[in-house]
Amino acid sequence: MSILSGKNILLGITGGIAAYKTASLVRLFIKSGANVKVVMTPSSKDFITPLTLSTLSKNPVYSSFTNEEDDNAIWNNHVDLGLWADIFIIAPATANTMSKMANGVCDNLLLATYLSAKCPVYFAPAMDLDMYKHSSTLQSFEKLNAFGNTMIPATSGELASGLVGEGRMAEPEDIITFIESDILGKLPLRGKKVLITAGPTYEAIDPVRFIGNHSSGKMGFEIAKAAANFGAEVVLVTGPTYQKINHSLIRVIPVTSAQEMYQEVHTYFETTDIAILSAAVADYKPKEVADQKIKKKSSALTLELEKTKDILASLGEIKKHQYLVGFALETNNELENAKGKLKRKNLNLIVLNSLNDKGAGFKSDTNKVTLIDDSGEIIEFKLKSKGEVAIDLLSKIISQVNA
Ligand code: CTP
Repeated sequence: MSILSGKNILLGITGGIAAYKTASLVRLFIKSGANVKVVMTPSSKDFITPLTLSTLSKNPVYSSFTNEEDDNAIWNNHVDLGLWADIFIIAPATANTMSKMANGVCDNLLLATYLSAKCPVYFAPAMDLDMYKHSSTLQSFEKLNAFGNTMIPATSGELASGLVGEGRMAEPEDIITFIESDILGKLPLRGKKVLITAGPTYEAIDPVRFIGNHSSGKMGFEIAKAAANFGAEVVLVTGPTYQKINHSLIRVIPVTSAQEMYQEVHTYFETTDIAILSAAVADYKPKEVADQKIKKKSSALTLELEKTKDILASLGEIKKHQYLVGFALETNNELENAKGKLKRKNLNLIVLNSLNDKGAGFKSDTNKVTLIDDSGEIIEFKLKSKGEVAIDLLSKIISQVNA
């Protein structure tokens, strides 16, 4: 699966003959799992129809500030379009549009959207060879680069004019590869292996019963997603959960019991750079597991429990280069208990969840955490969605690992 999967891609098309290739470009973006919207300059419609692009992108195509054919004109909101985009790519980018972008001109919807967009912007120039080399064009390239936009250089070949030289828009496949590798190359966890545990564990009593807990796995899955989106290769060892995840950089290893989780975690730990253990592992398991379903006989049943292996502590004992993160769920004396756990289990960082905080906990979509690192630095966050908490956590880890 592509790194573009699930991303909102806004394709800006300007009036050059290479615009005909954007049909393939839209198809390839869709194939990579991205959501695509298209914004066109008026002159680009001479080269490719909005209907083609709308059909391929499965979205309306925008080219003017209002829907002119409608008496009750609808305003096409360039600000919303710009903010919707995770990536804005202008392809083909004509000399005219690039010059306007470079100078803050916004006399059409595409240009107004460009000024509104906060996301990374790519532009793929296409023009005749002499236009491509003109000082004015080179100045536009320079200015756009200085704005932080990324150029996807044109290639050499036969041009629409019949001349041969530089100025052909990069082929759609190459545009996709360029953007994918550019994103991956800029990601702070690129090349890092991250091991994550999530969810509860189930400790069998007999073939049909178990001891478990209410952990939903949400927090661990959000951490896995955020780590992969930062470019890490993730191994997610998870207990039974309804959470689903589909990401090319995430390998999911389902387990049931604490012992299985222990084994899988130890299989991957040696080659791991960062281990984040967020699973709610059962602390105790039945000493004996009955082969057959236990029949109700007497009025009371006593189960003898024994301790499970503490996975986090076992990693703390063997860790070398690994950055090790644990979680602590505390009800009293929170900071002191968490600090104690950090030391005892030889961690680099501990994530403290307080059960005293409303909205924090097993089944909720939000969490309130405090991060404590091994230098004693404490960062307290407000109540946030688990997705945001995952990003806060990984940002802290990245700042330490890449320091
Ligand atoms: N953990 C683990 N293996 C276990 C138990 C816990 O890896 N068998 C990990 C959890 O994933 C979490 C951390 O240890 O990252 C904290 O677990 P917690 O149950 O809060 O702490 P304990 O050390 O078990 O201490 P206590 O139950 O006394 O609070």
